[in-house]
Order: sequence, then structure tokens, then C-alpha cells
Amino acid sequence: MKRHLLSAADLTRDDAELVLRTAAELRSLADRPIKKLPALRGRTVVNLFFEDSTRTRISFEAAAKRLSADVINFAAKGSSVSKGESLKDTALTLEAMGADAVVVRHGASGAPHRLAHSGWVRSSVVNAGDGTHEHPTQALLDAFTLTRHLGAADGGGLDGRRVAIVGDVLHSRVARSNALLLQTLGAEVTLVAPPTLMPVGVGSWPVETSYDLDAVLPKADAVMMLRVQRERMSGGFFPTPREYSRRYGLDGRRMATLQDHAIVMHPGPMVRGMEITADVADSPRSVIVEQVTNGVAVRMAVLYLLLSGADLSADAPLLPTESAPA
Ligand code: NCD
Repeated sequence: MKRHLLSAADLTRDDAELVLRTAAELRSLADRPIKKLPALRGRTVVNLFFEDSTRTRISFEAAAKRLSADVINFAAKGSSVSKGESLKDTALTLEAMGADAVVVRHGASGAPHRLAHSGWVRSSVVNAGDGTHEHPTQALLDAFTLTRHLGAADGGGLDGRRVAIVGDVLHSRVARSNALLLQTLGAEVTLVAPPTLMPVGVGSWPVETSYDLDAVLPKADAVMMLRVQRERMSGGFFPTPREYSRRYGLDGRRMATLQDHAIVMHPGPMVRGMEITADVADSPRSVIVEQVTNGVAVRMAVLYLLLSGADLSADAPLLPTESAPA
């Protein structure tokens, strides 16, 4: 793996499968009474969040702590950023404090690249969501969840599996990272959105596109709903929320057209009643809460692989056996 994780495109199929395998091993830790490993003892992970977050920030924090790293949480609100401090000066401060990894979420697309390639910090940089650009660890946790439910037992992973990604694709870093990663893993992705919320240049993405959700659902093995990102919208992208929901929302009637094995996903935060109804979000097909659990294991795997320098392709088990707790 490279030193940084900035884009889902940084991951070859071998890299992605290594992360997923490592995450699978670490996932079992969540079911143990003592959820901690000493792997990153003495390392420092800084969570640098310039944008709001619930799941992602807490997930990275839990992941780092379960690997025994020291964690520093930095939120731009309440910091010197609100006094006008630049990303560069913030980065130099973190470097001076000895960060080994910086997990960054920023409203500007490309901010994690700037951090990684400017020479301001020596640490590994992990993109936790940059503007409308990318969110690679979300794509990894989604791929992990898909593999657990739909992965071929013969190790063929997601080859040929059909994933529909539905909603505000234009503003979604989750959609872009998933489109790249799922294609790398062999899945077939269809983006479904109103024409106004389909990105310009989507023709160069490795996906199919559709404006018709009802036509796509019966063929899908998984449907991933996206939040309408009003905070990134300046104009009117659809007539009314009600009209959006009627055409592109997932309700019980639409869910009934899915195949029996198909699963429903959402990265969160959900706006119940807008892109997804409560009965769908809480249905047995929904793996939305499981995505959150899987997120911790996947982020542990990413931090471990970036920071420990270990070669996990070797056969040594990562977890101690149950009878010999760490
Ligand atoms: C997403 C994000 O922030 O990009 N959420 C997440 O990380 N789980 C999606 C969103 O905000 O709608």
C-alpha cells in the first residue's frame, strides 16, 4: 500500500483485498469482551476535522484506540482556525506534536492531497472526506459490508455483483469513491439520479447511469441510498422535496421490487422521509447499522497497514488466540 490513503483510486485490487481481509480479522475483535490490541502502542493519530461528522470521526477514534494508539481530536470549530489560521500552520503545529497519522476531513476537495504532498507533514494522511471529491474509507467499509453479504464463497469477491448508488451523486464523495473501488473489486455500479444531480463528465467514470430508479431496482444486488446534500447546494436542483422522494426515494413499495437477497445501504446521516422511509431504514434488509460497526474494523485495518509497516500477506495471525488475551 502507498503511504497515504487519499483516493479509492490509490488502491489496487490486491491492496483493497488486503484491507478487507485484515478488517475481517479485526472485525472479530468487536465481539470480544476486551476490544484492544497493542499494535499501534506509542503511535499518535490526529483526527483533523474541518467539517461536521458523527460516524466518521468517532469511528476513526475508536479504531485508533482499539489499536492502542494515542488519539488527538481536533475540530476546526473552537480552534485557532476560527481565528484565521491556515491549513499549513495547523499542519505544522500537528507535525511539531509528533503525529504519525493525520485523518483529515475538509470542505475543500483536494485538501488531503495538499497536506500529503506539500512537505508540511511527514505523517501518513488519510482522507476522511474532502468536499464533493472522495471518501475512500467509506467505500472500503461499504465494500466490506457488501462482501459479507454478497461475496462469492470461492473468493471471487464482488465480481459481477450489481450495486445501485442512488440520489445526490453530484455532491457525493461517497458515490465517487464507491464507483472507483467497487469497479476495482469487480462489481457493476449503476448511478441513479435526476439529471440535475448527475455529475458532468460521468461518462468517464467506470459506471452505468440511469434516471429511472424503478427500472434499476429489480436487477440490483444492493442499493446504496445517498443523502441530498443541501449544505453543498446553492440553487434549486429539484422542484420540491416531495417530488424528489416520489421519484428517487426508497419506500416500502419500491423495496418490494428488490430480489430476495438484495440489501439496502446508506452511509448516514439519513434524512428519513426524504431519500429513505423509516420502514425501509429499519427493515431486515437494511444493513445501515452494520455498516457503522464494519467501519471501525475497516479503519483499524487502514491505520494498521499504513502505520505498522507489517506485511500482512504473511500467514501470521494478527489477533492473539482467545485463550491468550493481549
Ligand atoms: C457522508 C459524508 O460525510 O460524506 N457521511 C459519512 O461519512 N458517513 C455522507 C453524507 O454526509 O451524506
